[in-house]
Amino acid sequence: MRVFQRQAQAPPDDPARIQTRSTPFYAMWDSVVRFAQEIRASDFMVEMIRRRDAYGSEGVMGALDCATLYGLTRWLRPAASVESGGFIGMSSAFILKALADEKLTTAKLYSIEWSEECEQGALIPNELRSALGGFVPMRGKVEDFLKRDQLPRSIDMFLHDSSHSYRHMLWEFRQFWPRLSHGGLLVSHDVQMNAAFPEFVTKTYAHDKKTGRRDEQRTSHYEWGRWGYIGFAVKKNRSAS
Ligand SMILES: C[S@@+](CC[C@H](N)C(=O)[O-])C[C@H]1O[C@@H](n2cnc3c(N)ncnc32)[C@H](O)[C@@H]1O
Repeated sequence: MRVFQRQAQAPPDDPARIQTRSTPFYAMWDSVVRFAQEIRASDFMVEMIRRRDAYGSEGVMGALDCATLYGLTRWLRPAASVESGGFIGMSSAFILKALADEKLTTAKLYSIEWSEECEQGALIPNELRSALGGFVPMRGKVEDFLKRDQLPRSIDMFLHDSSHSYRHMLWEFRQFWPRLSHGGLLVSHDVQMNAAFPEFVTKTYAHDKKTGRRDEQRTSHYEWGRWGYIGFAVKKNRSAS
């Protein structure tokens, strides 16, 4: 399992290894922040911002959120990811860059974009598109791809960045959560726009009335968080402990 492999790879003197049962994902925070800082200071970031600004930054993910997305992707090392609202590919580029930096040569990113008017994935550097061959653009509505059963049944990461209405966000979270593998990541952009993300996470959480804390058996996420405008939750299959 990717998530646990990542923890096992930490060096023996890494303070993040000192974990208790109630904080099994302590190491995750350190890793994601380290990867995010690395990409923020990189030439890749400078080049992507240049491309974004030359194209027009309207509706495109900003630097902080791109860095968080990159950090989460590197930490998870997903084999199969789906993003809704691929648009011109700012978010796609950072996911693909993380896959490339982790040398995940067979990983796939299914990127769904409804609008016929935009040049889907235009911002993605050619070397990321061709070297990995992992970018799979899909033109149409998420709703239709799901209806026609054209998306993988099991994925490791889902990124929501399509329509940010409360209804649609909650609908996508509910559709893709069951498809996530054990340890998989639900990621959402623009969680500040409405209550969909906190409400969803509240539903994956179960409360132990006696202790007033999380009931680990009944809670179906390992961890969740928000950084900038990105929200995420790490899925736990209820049967796993
Ligand atoms: C905020 S933009 C995405 C930005 C992109 N992730 C990036 O960082 O470059 C939202 C996109 O979602 C698309 N969209 C909206 N509703 C959709 C749906 N139901 N299915 C697929 N795409 C949708 C829009 O056409 C728009 O291009």
